[in-house]
Amino acid sequence: MKKKRNPGRVIALGSMKGGCGKSTIARTLAVELKAMGFSVLLADLDTEQDTIIHWSNRRVEKGLPEIVVRSFASVAKAREQRAFFDYVVIDLKPRAKSMFGDLANIAEIMLIPARPCLDDCQPAAMVWGKLQTAKTTAKVACILNSCTTDYETHRARRYLEAFGVRVLDHVVPEKPGYRMAQDGGYALSECMRGKLSDRAKHVLSDIFALIEDVVLKKRTSNDAVSQTKAGRGRSNVTDKQADIKLVTDAA
Ligand SMILES: Nc1ncnc2c1ncn2[C@@H]1O[C@H](COP(=O)(O)OP(=O)(O)OP(=O)(O)O)[C@@H](O)[C@H]1O
Ligand SMILES: [Mg+2]
Repeated sequence: MKKKRNPGRVIALGSMKGGCGKSTIARTLAVELKAMGFSVLLADLDTEQDTIIHWSNRRVEKGLPEIVVRSFASVAKAREQRAFFDYVVIDLKPRAKSMFGDLANIAEIMLIPARPCLDDCQPAAMVWGKLQTAKTTAKVACILNSCTTDYETHRARRYLEAFGVRVLDHVVPEKPGYRMAQDGGYALSECMRGKLSDRAKHVLSDIFALIEDVVLKKRTSNDAVSQTKAGRGRSNVTDKQADIKLVTDAA
């Protein structure tokens, strides 16, 4: 494969939590970047499940535009591939705690999906804190996924933002149609029902805005450097702090 003149960009999807939508968002992002004309590698770091590989096989069977998918044992190995692709989208395995340190300065964008419950949002806040402590140069953002009501979405957003976490404006609703689409090898943005694909595209537009900031090298209010200057301590979420917030919120 031909080497690119400039290395591509790395976008990682990670969380301590299982089942929060890492693979779902990673697939959709890869499909849309490819549809925009970029060369994309979808790197599956979950070698035990290989869910991305199975999904891509279902795509091929359907005759849908093929996404290049490969398994990697480490984020560093996946990152080497940016020599050949415009974008390397890394789908991490759950509880990839040991990988977050590596990722802090490997990915340009780090996305943390979380469902709007404290079981997901607490670990998401902790991952955010770990990345800030590691002085990440990545743009980090949480994506609220599987949202049902405005109230639970608002509550989750408020919880995360109290820790200084950047939360994307648009959220992914909980829809059986999204599950069925992925079972058929589609991405969320390829759902037959226009409303479902539109909701997914709104979230993608928030991610593309982050990509644009990276490309234009724009600093935004809750990047690591401004956090350490202005909001010292706030980003440094410990288990204990997250627990305290959790109790206060529930009370
Ligand atoms: N917004 C949604 N609405 C409905 N179903 C969803 C939604 N998001 C994800 N799912 C479904 O939830 C399940 C878990 O999602 P996914 O595999 O993306 O999570 P994950 O974080 O990658 O999981 P793991 O930690 O096991 O890798 C899948 O069956 C997926 O289709
Ligand atoms: Mg997964």
